[in-house]
Amino acid sequence: MYTPFLLLIILVIFTTFSYSSYAADFCVADLTAQRTPYGYPCKNSSSVTSTDFVFSRFVTQGNTTNPNKLSLVRAFVDDFPALNGLNLAAVRVDMEPDGVVPLHSHPSSSEMVFVVEGSVTVGFISGLDSNIMYANKLSKGQVMVIPQGFLHFQHNSGSSNAVLFVSFASSDPGVQFVTSALFRNRFPSFLVEKTTGISQAEVRQLKARLGGTG
Ligand SMILES: *[C@@H]1O[C@H](CO)[C@@H](O)[C@H](O)[C@H]1NC(C)=O
Ligand SMILES: *[C@@H]1O[C@H](CO)[C@@H](O)[C@H](O)[C@H]1NC(C)=O
Repeated sequence: MYTPFLLLIILVIFTTFSYSSYAADFCVADLTAQRTPYGYPCKNSSSVTSTDFVFSRFVTQGNTTNPNKLSLVRAFVDDFPALNGLNLAAVRVDMEPDGVVPLHSHPSSSEMVFVVEGSVTVGFISGLDSNIMYANKLSKGQVMVIPQGFLHFQHNSGSSNAVLFVSFASSDPGVQFVTSALFRNRFPSFLVEKTTGISQAEVRQLKARLGGTG
């Protein structure tokens, strides 16, 4: 009695996996089409070529001549259509000494940070009211993970340029920077004061520096 039942289970598992492996084959995004909550429709596979699976914008160092001494080159689905449906994305980060990726979060993905060059302090702040800071000074070759959604930062705490390869478990991790959300938009200054406790004078000063109004 056992054997047919077991066989049935094995058959079901096998067909499920083999089906999903075909179903998940690939789906290079057709960026001209409308995006859906599940990603983009597939580009006609007869027009997909080898080079669709290659991303070359990480080859050269980005421009770090800016107040954060930072360059971010994104490979999200909109930048690299082959990521569509693969639950993968990456960013190349270049930072001069004292360069910083300001406090931010990715609503849709955890993150893995790999130090390619330099020495970088990476930290995140836990949620659920505990607000514990978990930070490490990483050196070349080390990796740190940031759990999904938590506020985090990267700072080049070394004396040479730093390069990070950051990977995500989503082809569209999303991003929100805290200072931009507060001081780089039209969020009325009196409400910024009410909701953060930072005085309106300081809020206006930060808005002037970061390009906010109101
Ligand atoms: C994909 O392209 C081929 C060759 O150009 C064409 O024959 C086929 O109809 C296309 N399929 C779809 C779904 O557009
Ligand atoms: C880097 O960016 C700065 C500021 O936008 C600009 O002045 C400079 O020309 C850029 N350098 C290169 C090599 O593109």
